[in-house]
Amino acid sequence: MKILSIVGSPRVNGNTRFLAQTFCDSARSTGCEVEEVILNQKKIHGCIHCDACLEAGVCSIKDDQEEIIEKMRAADGFVLSSPVYCFSVTAQMKAFLDRTYSMCRPKWVTGVEGKPVFFIVGSGAPVKQDPNYVLHHSLTFETMFRIARAAKLAQGSVLLKVAIDPMAPFDATSDTLRILYQVSSILGLEPVGYIAAESLGHDRDAVRNHRPEDVQNAAASGAKFAFVGGMMKAKAFL
Ligand SMILES: Cc1cc2nc3c(=O)[nH]c(=O)nc-3n(C[C@H](O)[C@H](O)[C@H](O)COP(=O)(O)O)c2cc1C
Repeated sequence: MKILSIVGSPRVNGNTRFLAQTFCDSARSTGCEVEEVILNQKKIHGCIHCDACLEAGVCSIKDDQEEIIEKMRAADGFVLSSPVYCFSVTAQMKAFLDRTYSMCRPKWVTGVEGKPVFFIVGSGAPVKQDPNYVLHHSLTFETMFRIARAAKLAQGSVLLKVAIDPMAPFDATSDTLRILYQVSSILGLEPVGYIAAESLGHDRDAVRNHRPEDVQNAAASGAKFAFVGGMMKAKAFL
């Protein structure tokens, strides 16, 4: 089985890639072939919505995305990994995902249908562990500028507004996974699992040095993915 690992983190020595590599090393040890694409080392322009792909079935922009799509069609399974950046995938991953749009055209045949995909997401903020997460997180990232501005106008009532902000209750890691899941589904891929490593802060070595359970999980998941992917390739479930 041929696995394509598409890495959305620009930190090549960071947590997300470390988990993806652990996953892939484990799959490789069961006999899989693995290729890695580090999106930050590729030239991938953002989609310009020219709609040329609607009829042509190929993108009008000529850059490294073309070669990645070829690799995807040749692969049997995928690992998509990204840290959470501003509640979402990284810009590198988003550009790549947007540009897979052309694969669906013109007849919604992508050439990757039915192939398994696994997601790996790393995030800095604590989520499930911290009951005050929503407030901390939204204060830290989303509303601090709003607070700073509003505080000049109406001191005292600002924090209450933040607390009742209908946009506040979210879970950035789940939202990021959901994006990977939704785009994969549109491409016809079969999402089979994910790892969400939360509370990593900004320490690029957090997983390597302090999270043996995440490392074990990634290794175990790689081996399982190889097994399940092999069965799917052989259509053994049909
Ligand atoms: C620009 C930027 C935005 C970020 N936004 C978030 C965020 O919205 N939520 C969060 O939990 N962590 C956020 N982080 C933290 C990263 O997700 C975290 O450090 C992650 O472990 C980085 O993965 P890496 O080690 O693979 O680079 C952000 C980091 C950067 C650089």
